[in-house]
Amino acid sequence: MAANPYKRIGLFDSGVGGLSVLRQVALSCNGAQFIYLGDEARCPYGNRQKSEIGLFVDEIVTYLTSFQLDALIMACNTSCAMALDVAQARIQRSPATALFDLIEPTAQYLAESAECSKIGVMATFGTVSTRAFSLALRRHGYSGEVAEVACPALVPLIESGKLAEEAQNELLRAALKSYLLSLAGSSMIILGCTHFPFVASDIESLLLTDKDLQACFPEGVKLIDPALVLCRRLFPSAVSGLPAEDKYAEARQIDYFSPAFTFYTTGAVESFERAAAACLKTPVPRPLHLEVSVLEANGSASRNSVVEI
Ligand code: DGL
Repeated sequence: MAANPYKRIGLFDSGVGGLSVLRQVALSCNGAQFIYLGDEARCPYGNRQKSEIGLFVDEIVTYLTSFQLDALIMACNTSCAMALDVAQARIQRSPATALFDLIEPTAQYLAESAECSKIGVMATFGTVSTRAFSLALRRHGYSGEVAEVACPALVPLIESGKLAEEAQNELLRAALKSYLLSLAGSSMIILGCTHFPFVASDIESLLLTDKDLQACFPEGVKLIDPALVLCRRLFPSAVSGLPAEDKYAEARQIDYFSPAFTFYTTGAVESFERAAAACLKTPVPRPLHLEVSVLEANGSASRNSVVEI
């Protein structure tokens, strides 16, 4: 495992989705402390306006940088797609903190390495509306086709923490099938929302068993998890090969009860705990509750303060 230059790492998402990024980062580096914030009181982000997301991102970056971070990872593609500029502007007040998003490294990596004529993207309405993935792929020189599909049913199902129940799983499979059909012919599909790696195995089993989908993807599909692409960039010796879904991530042990992990949610602590445990397939400690009003007050105090240059 690589020596880790980032000793204190912050990550945020609208909810538990960013835990798919936390898991990969924690598996890829040693000796870091992690501070995770899930803004569940305002989840989902995917159907919100750009101006709202900009405000939320500004508040959260302001809050998290008060922890003297070495790195801040935007573990939410909707935030990356709609408000990367806001985060970049805000982080300038914390020059010791490096900011990382998931879209740019993924697009660059695939444009440079993927030899395929069609890439699919599954993401939220917000991310798809910006065409952030296809524009970034083009910017990095990818000339194939890019199909992006909004998948609004998935985040609420994953946040429910009840996907092990047959009825919920039935809904998940039906939604996944309709989204996948619209990406027919893709040989790679980017899981462009951090919640989606938690249903990667459901996607794979549908692709293997459903006749309609088999006809749409005759050569099979590789799922790309942007968190693995980011880890590959941050900790090159820890991640090798194509960053498809890491089949071993769940099996390898992470002790989320260790003092290295601090979790915050703006929502109900019990529902975070339930959804997080269901997604990570291991218990997690009860998060600390953070009032949205604290984020709002912090954000507006910071916006109103004059920066001395
Ligand atoms: N997990 C986030 C993303 O990557 C946000 C999902 C949502 O809240 O809609 O886009």
